[in-house]
Amino acid sequence: MSGPLVVLVGPMGVGKSTVGELLAERLGTGYRDTDADIVAAEGRTIADIFVDDGEDHFRALERAAVREAVAGHTGVLSLGGGAILDPATRELLAGHPVVYLSMDVDEAVKRVGLNTARPLLAVNPRRQWRELMDARRPLYTEVARAVVATDGRIPEEVADAVLDALELRLPAGDTTPPPGQEKTV
Ligand code: S3P
Repeated sequence: MSGPLVVLVGPMGVGKSTVGELLAERLGTGYRDTDADIVAAEGRTIADIFVDDGEDHFRALERAAVREAVAGHTGVLSLGGGAILDPATRELLAGHPVVYLSMDVDEAVKRVGLNTARPLLAVNPRRQWRELMDARRPLYTEVARAVVATDGRIPEEVADAVLDALELRLPAGDTTPPPGQEKTV
């Protein structure tokens, strides 16, 4: 199946962008992020989209952004934390190398806390995190080929675990590009 080499899903603040960029570097491929695609296309922040037009409108933009990125990107792709709420998006991800980066609620509150740039957590972050994760955990698990826990791990360790989980690591000295990245001469 053509498409991204790795798709990262998981809650906001889990490190999808940091780990995704590291993975792209290690795999010698490009990095793409659907949140960034939406911000670039709309010319405004995600917080502004939520405030101006509401979450449903953002989710519609996100559904289209994910469809486009899964069809057109062959490198590492990160999805916004709530992208998996959409049934069509979950269906679209079937068969793709999706990795769920997980973290527990204590770690989430520590990492993201009261970050108001993330509109879903503006009030009572601990309770909202628990509710958010209870609702989303089964959906992340449903779409994922592998789950990588990030608690207590630095991004490099998480990236290693993702490569191992998807069996994308090259033996030392082997310069064969990963599947899908071969150059045609
Ligand atoms: C959201 C996560 C955010 C962003 C938006 C909504 C969510 O993405 O898409 O604020 O519903 O979890 P990140 O996971 O990249 O922070």
